[in-house]
Amino acid sequence: LPPDHIEMIKAHELLAKFYHHLLMNTNEGADALNHLFKRGFTKESIQKFNIGYSLPEWNFAVNYLDKHGFSLETMEKAGLLARRNKDQAFVDRFRNRIMFPLLNEKGKTIAFSARALSDEDHPKYLNTPETQLFHKSSILYNYHQARSHIRRIGYTVLFEGFADVISADGAGVSNGVALMGTALTEKHIQILKRLSNSIVLCLDSDDAGLEAAFKSGSLLERYGMDVTVAQLPDKLDPDDYIQQFGAEKFREDVIGNAQTWMAFKLFYFRRGKNLQNEGDLLDFIDKAIIEIAKLGNAVERDMYLRQLSEEFSLSLDALMSQLNELIQPHVDKKHEKQQAGERQPEPRKVN
Ligand code: UTP
Ligand code: MN
Ligand code: MN
Ligand code: MN
Ligand code: MN
Repeated sequence: LPPDHIEMIKAHELLAKFYHHLLMNTNEGADALNHLFKRGFTKESIQKFNIGYSLPEWNFAVNYLDKHGFSLETMEKAGLLARRNKDQAFVDRFRNRIMFPLLNEKGKTIAFSARALSDEDHPKYLNTPETQLFHKSSILYNYHQARSHIRRIGYTVLFEGFADVISADGAGVSNGVALMGTALTEKHIQILKRLSNSIVLCLDSDDAGLEAAFKSGSLLERYGMDVTVAQLPDKLDPDDYIQQFGAEKFREDVIGNAQTWMAFKLFYFRRGKNLQNEGDLLDFIDKAIIEIAKLGNAVERDMYLRQLSEEFSLSLDALMSQLNELIQPHVDKKHEKQQAGERQPEPRKVN
């Protein structure tokens, strides 16, 4: 590692430790600690995730880092300090926030995500900007701790927020990781595939979360991963759900009941549609058949067609002939692509 990277990591490790101390043991941190307890965080999870608190001062980290002999220019590059322009004084980036350390694959702190104490403060989460050490699009929160559990349990649970990862961990789901407020990327998938080929999406059940589940799932499927979707009721997120219904219901009714990727897509396509309306129904059936045609397994295709036929009183023969029209050109296209030397996704594992 270049010397300034080592310095950046050392500064993050020291500050994280001090922020944690401020939260746990000082009067200045008492409000923040109460805030965390009120929303259901436990002392154990606060310790395990090394959560901290940054003082409402403009110069706390500046002085602390200076006193410990760090170069303030390097600390600016690390994202810990900021200044309006080159001839102005450095100030702390993170003030009066709950500090979530972000760790690299080796378990070293390389960045922070800092949550406002009040929901009215914007942004709710202030993250370290892109730095030489911190790349949002390739980091997964809790990867370092979840890695061995993902290998052991055989799948990853993907969440939207850190609060979800931490609550789920407290509820006995230790194989969870979260995105950093970005969309799932190819880079994330490469990292996850090293551990397991199976993934359970457990995103927020608001509109944004459902859209993200559809997008992420489609990308994961393209990379040959086995995707299932754990859905939550009433626009809740996993953290809200666990606080409301408890750990056991979360493990059994949510994670244990994850639906197949196909079932999720059918749910997603009919969302917001009025299937009493002929146009909406035909549009839904079209989309559904396109997805069913992609299934590699004839029995599976048959099963979903029968479901559609029964639920909407449509002739199975008509559905089948529409499907067959799709299957032929699909095979041809794939063949052409292969000849053109395009990368083909790995085949899906058939259960
Ligand atoms: P959510 O708004 O769902 O956050 O955003 P949350 O984890 O449920 O937050 P709490 O429970 O109110 O504390 C999901 C994720 O998007 C990123 C964060 O990574 C967050 O965990 N995000 C969200 C940001 O980076 N900045 C924001 O201002 C908001
Ligand atoms: Mn919230
Ligand atoms: Mn959300
Ligand atoms: Mn959320
Ligand atoms: Mn939340």
